[in-house]
Amino acid sequence: MTRVTKAVVPAAGLGTRFLPATKATPKEMLPVVDKPAIQYVVEEAVRAGLDDVLMVTGRNKRPLEDHFDRNVELELALEAKGDTAKLDAVRASTDMATVHYVRQGDPRGLGHAVLCAAEHVGNEPFAVLLGDDLIDERDHLLERMLEVQAARGGSVIALMEVPAETISLYGCVAAEKTEEEDVVAVGDLVEKPPVDEAPSNLAILGRYVLHPAVFEVLRHTAPGRGGEIQLTDALRTLATMPPQQGGGVSGVIFSGRRYDTGDRLDYIKAVVRLAAERDDLGPALRAWLGEFVAEQGH
Ligand code: UTP
Repeated sequence: MTRVTKAVVPAAGLGTRFLPATKATPKEMLPVVDKPAIQYVVEEAVRAGLDDVLMVTGRNKRPLEDHFDRNVELELALEAKGDTAKLDAVRASTDMATVHYVRQGDPRGLGHAVLCAAEHVGNEPFAVLLGDDLIDERDHLLERMLEVQAARGGSVIALMEVPAETISLYGCVAAEKTEEEDVVAVGDLVEKPPVDEAPSNLAILGRYVLHPAVFEVLRHTAPGRGGEIQLTDALRTLATMPPQQGGGVSGVIFSGRRYDTGDRLDYIKAVVRLAAERDDLGPALRAWLGEFVAEQGH
């Protein structure tokens, strides 16, 4: 199998959990401190060596395209002011990767969004990164997944242990241990199962390294939960297919730092945590947070 070079970033969802903020703005553009969530995701792909990025966009695609394009007027104004720090920040999102776009006419589910990437990806394994999930840059999840895909073939998904009572919020897997501590062989997958029917407490995270066989499977995957074409359902089929047909699904168990920015409370936590760790904002924010918490206690 060829080396993975392409990343697909689905960003065409409706973002209903974040309305009305997402009425005219994709949720992937919501700022996490001072960068839109999607920029963290593209930076992560580039760090892992994937600098060909395909974004699957929907009706609100303009802000996404503009963010990764030049803004000549703004650059000239910053240049005239001699503000090189801000100029570098503005140019960073343009220079870091080659970003392509494909439109998903109707948001018919994550599986359908991935299928929209078929032509661009071709017959190579590729990564899928969801803009909702921010993985801390100190934790190298995607690099590890690429390593596992190169060694084992098939497809690789990212898993995280969650408290059993919260598993119905996630896709979930039935999996068996392998000789590697952080790798499991996935036998079955189910999207958002009721707590008493969940096969484990291993939840699926928004990072995938997929075999191109997934496209043919997706073409034949009927709408599932919520009337959407679910990537989880296609992975379920891949898990039962023989390796010579591109089947087999491995899971990498992630125990690092991850922020779910598609959920309002987690989004706020992510902003506070990332800002508190920064050199420029951290000291003042931490001091204020201390006072604020003390105040709430009264
Ligand atoms: P979510 O399941 O979080 O759906 O999508 P959503 O519509 O964006 O958000 P909520 O639940 O209504 O708040 C997971 C990822 O898949 C993309 C989304 O943009 C998000 O990155 N997606 C989802 C698509 O690109 N197309 C779709 O049809 C559905």
